[in-house]
Amino acid sequence: MDCTIRPCKLDDAESMAELLNNKKIMDNLRDGLPYPYTADDAREYINFILNSDKNSTFAFAIVYEEKVVGCVGVFRQDNVYYRTAEMGYYVGEKYWNMGIATCAIRKVCKNVFDNTNIIRIYAEPFARNIASCRVLEKAGFTCEGTLRSSIVKNGIIEDSKIYAIIKEIKI
Ligand SMILES: CC(C)(COP(=O)(O)OP(=O)(O)OC[C@H]1O[C@@H](n2cnc3c(N)ncnc32)[C@H](O)[C@@H]1OP(=O)(O)O)[C@@H](O)C(=O)NCCC(=O)NCCS
Repeated sequence: MDCTIRPCKLDDAESMAELLNNKKIMDNLRDGLPYPYTADDAREYINFILNSDKNSTFAFAIVYEEKVVGCVGVFRQDNVYYRTAEMGYYVGEKYWNMGIATCAIRKVCKNVFDNTNIIRIYAEPFARNIASCRVLEKAGFTCEGTLRSSIVKNGIIEDSKIYAIIKEIKI
């Protein structure tokens, strides 16, 4: 299985909406995304990304067999965390368990480490999200701990986990 990554563009809106308009995906993401999720919602998000600081916000479409099948976003943090970035991602349900997220996350991390001064990328999957935790492990992230009762999703208090990968710095 091979995938490619490329920056998101406005033309991706229809595909993104089709992938994201899925409760099983929404239930594993932070709140704030409308549901149902429409192409207009996707266009608004992509426009926001395209107008964001190019050194701080990175959004990649995941392409598999010439189709957009998911998305990975990397967001630089600020203050003393300015060389740290948070990562979020999803893959459309019909493409799950084919290794696509693992492939894309590996490529995104390499791209960000090669092209920016970011040295740490982290993700905070909900603890029940076994697939996401597994993807991060396969992509070389280390689990740094459980954030107990850190989130409330759909009215339920839950744990999340923190995973990170550090750029190897040669001196
Ligand atoms: C998490 C997500 C991105 C994974 O994408 P994917 O392309 O299916 O991931 P991969 O195929 O690379 O890897 C999935 C791994 O999880 C495993 N897995 C999936 N469901 C599992 C389960 N219920 N129990 C145990 N392992 C599971 C798969 O077997 C695979 O591991 P393996 O290669 O060792 O067999 C996708 O499920 C998704 O978009 N979920 C909804 C949104 C989301 O959770 N985003 C992340 C928020 S932190």
